[in-house]
Amino acid sequence: MREPTTVRDESLPERVAIYEVGPRDGLQNESGIVPLPAKAEFIHRLVGAGLPVVEATSFVHPKWVPQLADAAELMELLGEEGRRLPVLVPNERGLDRALELGCEHIAIFGSATETFARKNLNRSLDEQFAMFEPTVRRARDAGMDVRAYVSMCFGDPWEGDVPVDQVVGVGKRLFDLGASQLSLGDTIGVGTAGHVRVLLDAFNDAGLADELLAVHFHDTYGQALANAHAALQHGVTTFDASAGGLGGCPYAESATGNLATEDLVWMLHGLGIDTGVDLEALVRTSVWMADVLGRPSPSRVVAALA
Ligand code: HMG
Ligand code: MG
Repeated sequence: MREPTTVRDESLPERVAIYEVGPRDGLQNESGIVPLPAKAEFIHRLVGAGLPVVEATSFVHPKWVPQLADAAELMELLGEEGRRLPVLVPNERGLDRALELGCEHIAIFGSATETFARKNLNRSLDEQFAMFEPTVRRARDAGMDVRAYVSMCFGDPWEGDVPVDQVVGVGKRLFDLGASQLSLGDTIGVGTAGHVRVLLDAFNDAGLADELLAVHFHDTYGQALANAHAALQHGVTTFDASAGGLGGCPYAESATGNLATEDLVWMLHGLGIDTGVDLEALVRTSVWMADVLGRPSPSRVVAALA
């Protein structure tokens, strides 16, 4: 399979970590429900392709996200392999379910805006912290690692522009609950490269260095890869991406696919940056998943290499 020509840029890191969200952010947005064995195989193949972190599923209310209502069965099927994979948890009820199954790593997900907090979590902007605080405290007491997401960092479909100060205020508050990493979500994919730099600068000024941050781009306006490159140049070393470009958010109008992992890997390997990912195995996985879903992958690299 063709590989990108490598031209190393010494100002960039030698290695970055890809945080794969396809099984969760990707499959939560499918109109159909992917059968349990196919979900387990998807995760198994992604881990096998060298992705260091694969977010497996969500312990949210099954009526809110029926696509992932089989989270417990999936974790049981994955067994030991599943325990170290992060799972999305919004509240103590979700945490209890994750603890029962021996999960070691959870991700909470807050909103930078009032409207999305209500639509996605059934809470006001302030109330979301009251839900997350005991969740994170108990998770940490149980020895779990906690990631925090903040959504709508670059714009909101109902509120429009979201002030940088507001995003930093919410993100810092979520991180300070006890997270080890804060992922900045461009949930509806409206961000641009300059906006990425401004937001990262503002987080740095608030005491969150790039090492503590991850970026989570969606490709609605075709800017996900450009935004990832801007974050890379800034100093970020953790990038969320979704195999085959699957994804979106069922509670955010106009959220389309995530940045495709294959497109990100092609760019990073072309820059001489190690990801540990076997691109060929990853593309084969996305081609297989496209067949399961019955439609082609939106990833340009998958289309080119398949
Ligand atoms: P609620 O209705 O306010 O829940 O939903 P509640 O606390 O009032 O509880 C009502 C009932 O639900 C109770 O049962 C609870 O036990 C049960 P009852 O006593 O009536 O029999 N319940 C649960 N059951 C199972 N698992 C749970 C759970 N919690 C409560 N975890 C809630 C509040 C947060 C649960 C709901 O709004 C929800 O599940 N939201 C999740 C929405 C979601 O998953 N969205 C997609 C992920 S976010 C995203 O994609 C963005 C991201 O990718 C980053 C980006 O792109 O920006 C992360
Ligand atoms: Mg997302």
